[in-house]
Amino acid sequence: MGQTLTEKILDDHLVEGDLEPGEEIGIEIDQVLTQDTTGTMVWLQFEALELDEVQTELAAQYCDHQTYQFDFKNTDDHRFLRSAAGTYGAYFSRPGNGICHNVHKENFAAPGKTMLGSDSHTPTPGGLGELAIGAGGLDVAVAMGGGPYFVEMPEVVNVRLEGELPDWASAKDLILELLRRLSVKGGVGKVFEYSGPGVESLSVPERTTITNMGTELGATTSIFPTDEQTKDYLDRQGRGDQFVELSPDDDAEYADEIVVDLSDLEPLISCPSMPDNVVPVREVAGTDVEQVIIGSCTNGGYEDILPAAKMVEGREIKKDLEMIVAPGSKQAGELLAREGWTAELMAAGVNVSEATCGPCIGIGHVPASDSVSLRTFNRNFEGRSGIENDSVYLCSPQVAAAAALKGEIVDPRDLADELGDMDAPGVELPEKYDGSKADIIRPDEAVDDELIKGPNIGDVPLKDPLGADIHGETLLKMGDNITTDHIIPATSDILKFRSNIERLSEFTLSRVDDTFAERAKATDHSVLVAGENYGQGSSREHAAMCPMYLGVEAVLAQSFARIHKANLYNFGLLPLTIDEETYDRIEQGDDIEVVDDVAAAVENGAEEFTIRVNGDWEATAQFDASEREREILAAGGKLTLTKQQYADD
Ligand code: F3S
Repeated sequence: MGQTLTEKILDDHLVEGDLEPGEEIGIEIDQVLTQDTTGTMVWLQFEALELDEVQTELAAQYCDHQTYQFDFKNTDDHRFLRSAAGTYGAYFSRPGNGICHNVHKENFAAPGKTMLGSDSHTPTPGGLGELAIGAGGLDVAVAMGGGPYFVEMPEVVNVRLEGELPDWASAKDLILELLRRLSVKGGVGKVFEYSGPGVESLSVPERTTITNMGTELGATTSIFPTDEQTKDYLDRQGRGDQFVELSPDDDAEYADEIVVDLSDLEPLISCPSMPDNVVPVREVAGTDVEQVIIGSCTNGGYEDILPAAKMVEGREIKKDLEMIVAPGSKQAGELLAREGWTAELMAAGVNVSEATCGPCIGIGHVPASDSVSLRTFNRNFEGRSGIENDSVYLCSPQVAAAAALKGEIVDPRDLADELGDMDAPGVELPEKYDGSKADIIRPDEAVDDELIKGPNIGDVPLKDPLGADIHGETLLKMGDNITTDHIIPATSDILKFRSNIERLSEFTLSRVDDTFAERAKATDHSVLVAGENYGQGSSREHAAMCPMYLGVEAVLAQSFARIHKANLYNFGLLPLTIDEETYDRIEQGDDIEVVDDVAAAVENGAEEFTIRVNGDWEATAQFDASEREREILAAGGKLTLTKQQYADD
């Protein structure tokens, strides 16, 4: 039987297991990526492993999430990251040089390579045929140390593209269409592999918009085959020699097939406050808008901003709103500036920002209260913009620019009819991506050879090995789709403590219940209960580390998001899956006891546990850990286990 493209790349990198869906496999990692909010912990963990240097072909540290250094803690973190990259042999991308996924795509992503990144949108370079997976920081630290990355072999789904995008529809509309059809859980345990005659009409930047937002489907990753478009993109980036032709075998078998005719697509929009809440733009046309932002790792490229610049060229945006353009990378910003487009944007009333994630996680450009913000980003989870009860819509740059010109949500086709002289801008690549590399420090240019830690950089917390008893109060009962933003918010006032777990943990689940951290501190042992898809969102391992630090020992949920579940194991927390009836019966405050000898049962391969609630009634909870995950749990977490393993070697 032939292989899918995903299977081919995994096979090339396989070090443990078989490529059977659902089975755990270990793969060798070629490239590693970290960013500033997760990176400090990655390097502290790497330091704890006591290795001299990075073992992967390439590691890159970016500073993108919190680039505004309005607090010394951020600047200290950036300096620490530079010193870690220099000390251990990684590339360092300075604050302001751009978002990790954009800069990585431009400089390093290469067909056929595997990549692990401590950011959930790591799959972005799948648009170039790289198999890239988002993971918790500890997994990334271990991969940098040369250890394999373990993941459940996903099912490979064929997304067959037919036709070509019509005017005013974009790659963003394709991924929004998939979210509309499949929901934010539709990709869990899956890789989306794109194929079909529609692929060749999409440029690499369009493909990476799609692979980037595959994360919103919950997918392990997404990938495109490589072709003339890939070669062309790499040539324009001056990296044509890295092109490799990659495609699935003709007789490859897929777990499922989804067909999308690109020519049927129209401008779509994701309504507050979940990325899959997608409708045609015309359905919400007329909604007043106070803020429009173009940028992010999804639509912050030169090719994304240029269409918007062409739309506003020679016009002015409405006076009662603000429009911000934050390029995804300095390369994009520099090209737009050299070609005069930055001046056109400015003349139209647009505020051109530095290259940063910033507003995507509520750092800068927080919307006004009770207002609508229209963004080209990938997520609109409630509160992520930096204000509770926000109203964030997600759309393409074309829809965003149209709204800025009209002052309300409008289908750009209708605006074009109304104006009479606005052509569909299409997607154009620059002749050459010839931006400066001044903001990337290569390992051979390193300016530091030892770690520089400021006062806010603490130690990595470690947990004791798993014991026989797990028994505690249900400190919080939560609903479905609790995100990592709910568990540890990513806003600037909180994230500045990312390297200081003692302080950061005070904000644990504060979005859900602001007394949680205090109550957790008052008791040594506790459990959490949640509905479906617990921990969806980012790869933020702090969302497992902080509850662990506060004494949470187990999380009982109806289902878990992939990366977060791995993070729970990595930090020694027991994830148990409960059915709907059990979930409904448990109340906040209930006393929950895992009846069995937990350590022995984990070691002996138990696949379920009995839980006793209030000493009164019992239920069964499922436990589907692999052998390796059991070992991690037993040791009290992955860092302790890996240290033990290195010491034994
Ligand atoms: Fe940054 Fe937002 Fe992407 S935080 S990495 S722009 S999802």
